[in-house]
Parts: sequence; structure tokens; C-alpha cells
Amino acid sequence: MQEILTFNPRRGRLSASQAEALHRLLPRYAPPAGSFDPATAFSGRPVVVEIGFGVGDVTIEMAQAEPAIGIVAIDVHTPGVARLLSAIEDHGLDNVMVVHDDAVGFLRERVPEAALAGIRIFFPDPWPKSKHHKRRLVRPALAALMASRLKAGASIHCATDWTPYAEAMLEVLDAEPSLRNAFDGYAPRLERPMTKFERMGLEKGHEVADLVFVKREGRS
Ligand SMILES: C[S@@+](CC[C@H](N)C(=O)[O-])C[C@H]1O[C@@H](n2cnc3c(N)ncnc32)[C@H](O)[C@@H]1O
Repeated sequence: MQEILTFNPRRGRLSASQAEALHRLLPRYAPPAGSFDPATAFSGRPVVVEIGFGVGDVTIEMAQAEPAIGIVAIDVHTPGVARLLSAIEDHGLDNVMVVHDDAVGFLRERVPEAALAGIRIFFPDPWPKSKHHKRRLVRPALAALMASRLKAGASIHCATDWTPYAEAMLEVLDAEPSLRNAFDGYAPRLERPMTKFERMGLEKGHEVADLVFVKREGRS
């Protein structure tokens, strides 16, 4: 069966310097080919996956603020990937890897079960039309996939400025048996840098909701 993509498969135009960065730096900062090994990826540091980093500013801020974790930042949007690669080099960071691919395939095919210390999904495409809800990242089948890749006690942290999506996320994550809500309903706004899409949402008067769900003990 064909995979329902959570993004529009357009690669975006690259400037010459972005193309150069992509070509030169992706081999350096991508995880080694094959199965992802969380134990060796960042010399044993716990691994957090960020899905859909966009322009990557927040990835850089998180990596600087949390040197004790390794971040695997995943996005399909090529100009953003090139931009993040250059920023990692400029800042000399050793705790970010970049995957230029569909996060769903990466998690399913390359990440073992119970491997991750966290998954962060900030302002995923809301796909507001009902006929497109099947494209949402936070939907039942993908929630189960993401939960299966978390270690017990690790969390999935989502944020959105699209209230109907926040409500749907709450329902989907509540219904996933291997997860429990870390809060009663929505989470308070946790310590996290402001993202580009969050700023745009706030400018439009949208309300932002955070959700944090924790992987239960003894569940795969
Ligand atoms: C609305 S943007 C949000 C970007 C950023 N997190 C922010 O808050 O500014 C959503 C991003 O998710 C990416 N994306 C959507 N589905 C994806 C997938 N399956 N794998 C990797 N990236 C994905 C898109 O390319 C886009 O860059």
C-alpha cells in the first residue's frame, strides 16, 4: 500500500551556497547508513528526534542549551536542511545529526524500538481540511510508531497553533495505550525556544498548545 505522506513532496530551490553546503556537509552530519544505533551515535548521549525542524534555528538553540543530548533533526525541505547544516558547522556543534528524508520512513526502517529519549514535533503542518487529516503526523498509526521508538519514561512533545489539531492530537495520543499524558490535558508552555511557525501563528492571533506524553513502563 502506498504511504500517505505528511508533506508535499517539493524540494524547494537552492542557492549555489546552499547546494554547496548540502553536498559538502550532509555526508558529515547525516547518521551513518543502516540501522541507527542510539548507543554509539553521540558517544552514549541520550538521543532526541526532532521531526520537521523547518529552518532549524530552534534545533541550534536546543543543541546549544542541551549539550548532554544528541539531536537527530529530520526534515524533507531541502533549503532548510542546507541552512541547518551550515549553522551546525558555523557553531561547531557535535550533538546534531541531520536526516534529509521522511521521518516516518526513518523511524520505521532505521530506528530500533525503545531507542529514543524523546521526540519533539513543533508546529507540524496542520492539514486543516478534513480530507487531508490522513496526512497529519500525529495520527493513530504514526503515534503508535513514534511511541514504539521511545524508551520507557521518554516523552513525545508536540506543539501547535491550530486548535482543532491540538484537540485531535490530545485525542490521538490519549488513545495510544503505550503513552500517558504527563499533564492533565494540555501541558504548560515548557522551556523551548520560539519557532518560526509559532511566531507566525501568534501574529495571526492563534493560541499555542503544548502536549507532552510519556512512554509507559513495560510497553513496546
Ligand atoms: C509547518 S513547518 C514547522 C517548522 C518548524 N518546526 C517551526 O515550528 O517553525 C513543518 C515542517 O515539517 C516538515 N515535515 C512534514 N512532514 C515531515 C516528515 N514526514 N518528515 C520530515 N519532515 C516533515 C516540513 O517539511 C516542514 O518543514
